[in-house]
Amino acid sequence: MITLCRKKSPFLLMMGFTISSSSLGLVNLPYNSHSHRQKIICSANQSLNFSNPHKPLRVSSPKLQSVQIDERTSSTEVKKEIEMCYELIQRLGRGVVYLGSSRLGPGHQHYIQTQELAKEVANLLGCTSWSGAGPGLMDAATQGALQAGKPVGGFKIGKEANEWTSSNFHPYLPSHTYLTCRFFSARKHGLVDAAVRASDRDKTGVIVLPGGIGTLDEAFEILALIQLERIGSALPVPFILMNYDSFYSKLLEFLDVCEEWTTVSKGEVSSLWKVCNNNSEALAYLEQFYNLDAVNKP
Ligand SMILES: *[C@@H]1O[C@H](CO)[C@@H](O)[C@H](O)[C@H]1NC(C)=O
Ligand SMILES: *[C@@H]1O[C@H](CO)[C@@H](O)[C@H](O)[C@H]1NC(C)=O
Ligand SMILES: *[C@@H]1O[C@H](CO)[C@@H](O)[C@H](O)[C@H]1NC(C)=O
Repeated sequence: MITLCRKKSPFLLMMGFTISSSSLGLVNLPYNSHSHRQKIICSANQSLNFSNPHKPLRVSSPKLQSVQIDERTSSTEVKKEIEMCYELIQRLGRGVVYLGSSRLGPGHQHYIQTQELAKEVANLLGCTSWSGAGPGLMDAATQGALQAGKPVGGFKIGKEANEWTSSNFHPYLPSHTYLTCRFFSARKHGLVDAAVRASDRDKTGVIVLPGGIGTLDEAFEILALIQLERIGSALPVPFILMNYDSFYSKLLEFLDVCEEWTTVSKGEVSSLWKVCNNNSEALAYLEQFYNLDAVNKP
């Protein structure tokens, strides 16, 4: 969906892209279609000249990163970046994808818990750990996996919500282990594909940590892809929502309200993910999911 908007004279242009089948599970398309779903961030004071479509437009404000609309609408540019994401995944191997707040930094209880979780998960599954390679809980997951001595990969974006950095470079990860994306759509392709399981040997997962708008966006995107069987994975992928300190309890209550209104069917959401209150519950779930012999645990 493409949305353009301006503040003073409200103007909304919406274009919809439909998917070929709306019934669950009937069609197994090779992949989902993020490349069609470009979001354009609206700043408070942009001016869009629709009568001059060829002039490059910059949507910018002091707080928001400039977006070159000409680039965004070039499917070739987006495609190139998606291919780079896939290539990185092929190089480092699929694994567990962590989604979480960029704002809960070292010293925060959830940072410490996330770091511990990522370390234990990496030891348990022996897989690569993936994230948006940003600060906060993404960084906690990176640190934990590095402590376990396991590979780490990331899809960085120039600027995170807490404006930790607007640099294209990660402060300490070697440059061959992450990609700095220009397009959110490509980054999201990467974050989904890194968790896809092609064979029984692939041990992957998605772990959603406490987070804000970006985290919720990614979490619900993956939830929808699993719901509609469009995640592109031949085998099921464990999807865990970390409900540290009941962070997500009100969201879960709201999803119950959705059930009451019948916008989601009874038991549907709870069948798509596993809500865990603490690290030991998450580790036990992964152990059970992958049928790992407790004796062989490192
Ligand atoms: C928006 O643009 C107008 C005219 O250029 C300017 O006077 C105003 O300060 C701007 N507002 C913001 C929030 O940048
Ligand atoms: C919009 O673009 C058209 C075509 O290039 C130009 O004639 C017009 O002056 C522009 N309007 C504004 C407000 O910039
Ligand atoms: C973790 O959560 C589960 C489920 O709520 C609970 O039974 C268990 O006691 C908790 N473990 C710890 C160590 O808090």
